[in-house]
Amino acid sequence: MPSMMLTDQHRVLVTESFALLVPISDDAAAVFYQQLWTIAPETKPMFQSTDMAAQGLKLMQTLGVIVRALHDLETIRPFMRELGQRHIGYGVTADQYVLVKVALLYMIEYCLGDKFTPEVRAAWDEAYDMLASFAIAAYE
Ligand code: HEM
Repeated sequence: MPSMMLTDQHRVLVTESFALLVPISDDAAAVFYQQLWTIAPETKPMFQSTDMAAQGLKLMQTLGVIVRALHDLETIRPFMRELGQRHIGYGVTADQYVLVKVALLYMIEYCLGDKFTPEVRAAWDEAYDMLASFAIAAYE
């Protein structure tokens, strides 16, 4: 059961660590999708007609929008709900969101190395659970 409690420290750590990913966005996105397809091969066909360079850019840009709005839940909640609504259309199920969390944490660890401290991991874990719960609300 996630605690659903995003503290100011979580927000700071997510913001600072995301800034380190921005200059290496293309590689970060590639690592993310490779890892998603490794841990969950059933997700690969979902992207079979997707331009993955464009998709990677959209993912990283959207993460940027989310990270910048983390202080404002009233913006984030409807934004994520609409993203969740679109994902219903892509055939994504609510139980697949945890796969994306695992791949995302792996990608951040891979890209940050020693800077991926337990505190940074906990901050992303907490932030993702909150965001995913807003997206999954669209499924109910
Ligand atoms: C919080 C989690 C997630 C974020 C931030 C995210 C982000 C995005 C973004 C920005 C797009 C581009 C289109 C749009 O904005 O609607 C997209 C499309 C897509 N996402 Fe996600 N996503 C998430 C979760 C998932 C999950 C759990 C899956 C399941 C494997 C998934 C699979 C897809 C697919 C299949 C597309 C469509 C690709 C296409 O257009 O060909 N996403 N996602």
